[in-house]
Amino acid sequence: MTNKPILIIGKYGKTGRRVLQRLESMGVQTRAVSRSTELSFDWQQRETWGPALQGVGAVYVTYQPDLALAQAEDDIEAFTLMAKQAGVEHLVLLSGRGEAGARRAEEIVINSGIAWNIVRASWFFQNFSESFMIDGILQGELVLPAGDIPEPFIDAEDIADVAVACLTDAKHRNRIYEVTGPRAMTFADCMRELSQALQRPVKYTQVPIDDYLDLLDQQGVPEPMQWLLKELFSEVLDGRNSQVQKGVEAALARPATDFQVYVKRMIESGCWSTDRLKQAV
Ligand SMILES: NC(=O)c1ccc[n+]([C@@H]2O[C@H](COP(=O)([O-])OP(=O)(O)OC[C@H]3O[C@@H](n4cnc5c(N)ncnc54)[C@H](OP(=O)(O)O)[C@@H]3O)[C@@H](O)[C@H]2O)c1
Repeated sequence: MTNKPILIIGKYGKTGRRVLQRLESMGVQTRAVSRSTELSFDWQQRETWGPALQGVGAVYVTYQPDLALAQAEDDIEAFTLMAKQAGVEHLVLLSGRGEAGARRAEEIVINSGIAWNIVRASWFFQNFSESFMIDGILQGELVLPAGDIPEPFIDAEDIADVAVACLTDAKHRNRIYEVTGPRAMTFADCMRELSQALQRPVKYTQVPIDDYLDLLDQQGVPEPMQWLLKELFSEVLDGRNSQVQKGVEAALARPATDFQVYVKRMIESGCWSTDRLKQAV
């Protein structure tokens, strides 16, 4: 491991902030960036990349909003080249499972000539608590165009543990860790377990994809986000990713965190408390 700082892209993101927290508590020098940090980094403004890369030894790469975007391939290619020219020695890419765009980004990083890791993750538990699903949960009904295809959702805390192991221990170099949770669950399963733990009903309702897109439109969700959600629900969540993988065990020699453990932690944090709904009214 190098003594130069580790660049974290997505400072406030679901995994970026957890990676940052862990590295800071280990006393590792970091530089965490996003569009709103003082040293700004924006995937859509390439002139911001060079200053962020200046003098760093390794990078934790998260691409926003998603590697499924057509633009991602070009961006990852250009970023990797710039990182190499800046003398970066190690790239850890957060990737997704079963997405063609994610796979292309992985190939670019693997063939970059820089030491690499790929952390290829399933859907995060945190989509239920830090992302687009939280409102539905607070209102007692999660409406999505997903049927009974199970997904082995994963805890972003586990992803951060794996990413930090890769960033700080050379024994992991040049390995792909395909990380999932320990159980494949449908969205209905998740809401059933969440309702039981919350002791209040949160219903799961499946709707056709076009109805869901109409709903997003009515809610004023921007077009690129609508496209992304359509892509994720119609293309990726088709069963190709249902299998549990053992990447967390392989990297950390411990099992991945179960959904029930995450739910308990979130209830204790108050994240799904109905007080939040009252505050929003
Ligand atoms: N969510 C899932 O279930 C899932 C599953 C597998 C893989 N993934 C992959 O995870 C990646 C996203 O990582 P994440 O979930 O850790 O991050 P995230 O939570 O989506 O990231 C949010 C962070 O990114 C920053 N950000 C937003 N737009 C940006 C831009 N244009 N340029 C630079 N920073 C930007 C935000 O801060 P500012 O607003 O200050 O910029 C914030 O710090 C995607 O590539 C996706 O493919 C996600």
